[in-house]
Amino acid sequence: QPYFDYRGDQLYVEELPLADLAREYGTPLFVYSKASMLAALGAYQRGFGDRNAKIHYAMKANSSLAILQVFAQAGCGFDIVSGGELERALAAGAKGSDIVFSGVGKTRAEMKRALEVGIACFNVESEPELEVLSEVATSAGKEAAVSLRVNPNVDPKTHPYISTGLKGNKFGVAHDRVLHAYQRAAQLPGLRVVGIDCHIGSQITDVGPYLDTVDRMLDLVQAVETAGIPIHHIDFGGGLGISYHGEQPPQADALWAQLLAKIDARGFGSRTLMIEPGRSLVGNAGVCVSEVLYLKPGETKNFCIVDAAMNDLPRPAMYQAYHAILPVRTRDDMPHTYDVVGPVCESGDWIGHTRELAVNPGDYVAVMSAGAYCMSMASNYNTRGRAAEVLVDGTKAHLIRERETPAQQMLREKLVP
Ligand code: LLP
Repeated sequence: QPYFDYRGDQLYVEELPLADLAREYGTPLFVYSKASMLAALGAYQRGFGDRNAKIHYAMKANSSLAILQVFAQAGCGFDIVSGGELERALAAGAKGSDIVFSGVGKTRAEMKRALEVGIACFNVESEPELEVLSEVATSAGKEAAVSLRVNPNVDPKTHPYISTGLKGNKFGVAHDRVLHAYQRAAQLPGLRVVGIDCHIGSQITDVGPYLDTVDRMLDLVQAVETAGIPIHHIDFGGGLGISYHGEQPPQADALWAQLLAKIDARGFGSRTLMIEPGRSLVGNAGVCVSEVLYLKPGETKNFCIVDAAMNDLPRPAMYQAYHAILPVRTRDDMPHTYDVVGPVCESGDWIGHTRELAVNPGDYVAVMSAGAYCMSMASNYNTRGRAAEVLVDGTKAHLIRERETPAQQMLREKLVP
């Protein structure tokens, strides 16, 4: 994981030892590298060169304010999926016109607020949503810019919970309804058709599904324009994977070189192109540092019990996901095989199975590739406070989120009289 390297026996983030940060801010602690985020973004920006393209960071991957701020300052817009994300993006400095709004279940209140702040586009996911958006926009005296999220029916070859562009998924307008839905959108008052979008899944490590998606999307653009409805932008969604455990996803610039060649060959090279990457911008820019609490020999296996748990790192429990676990300071001792688990009262609370580690209680370990879909999916299960977060920039560390206290967790609750 670039920007997280050993120097001698110590694991560093940029110019700082992770152990120092853990001592200063406590654990579990998410630590992010700003340079890593900017490098990941840079690969996309290089890939697009001087094309007419816009990158909307899919902020569900990590919506901490300071992370959004980094991307806003670097020229990104945001892909949001809720009214909460809208307020966060604005709080981080984004303008409404930098935001596109995805999601299958937008409420009227969310639509109204998004119209108020002048968002760039609603990525509409169904025909009934078009009708509601038209009503909301008309009664607010506004015009809503719309794109239809189409379901290209491409298999992204990833985990079933994170593949979204297949026929059986709840997402997008079915391929054979697309033309009809565009015709309806063009008729409805208060709507202005501006684009088309898709998102076929997440943690995609092959170019193939993207190439298929480009073909199907461009076929649809042709069909819709032949019906007299111009499509100004084409949004290919997010989904590019990262390396958690030896996967070799294409680099963003190499991927886009291939996709752009196809788009050019088909004569769509001068269109406004959009993407919504999440994981590939932040996933490998973060780790979660945790303290080893106990080593517990069991009948059939040994457990390494750490102070981070499924409420901080839900991906292993939810998707059987693999995250590497590295000692923050290496020891010369014999490694042992452990199941690395957290303190939560569930057998599903595991972070890594059968890992070779040479650690003692009191040592720190780093759960790697934890920048995406960890903090943003964290919960308070077992009344555990959410972890603190630090953003590192060279030799500087900024505390970007304080550790959550029990009092803060109980703040909005009331006893009955
Ligand atoms: N655009 C839309 C409409 C999406 O639904 C998503 C992710 C993205 C963009 C960004 O996709 P990315 O570039 O991050 O792959 N929690 C799961 C991942 C869920 C992804 C949901 N949608 C995980 O931890 O693996």
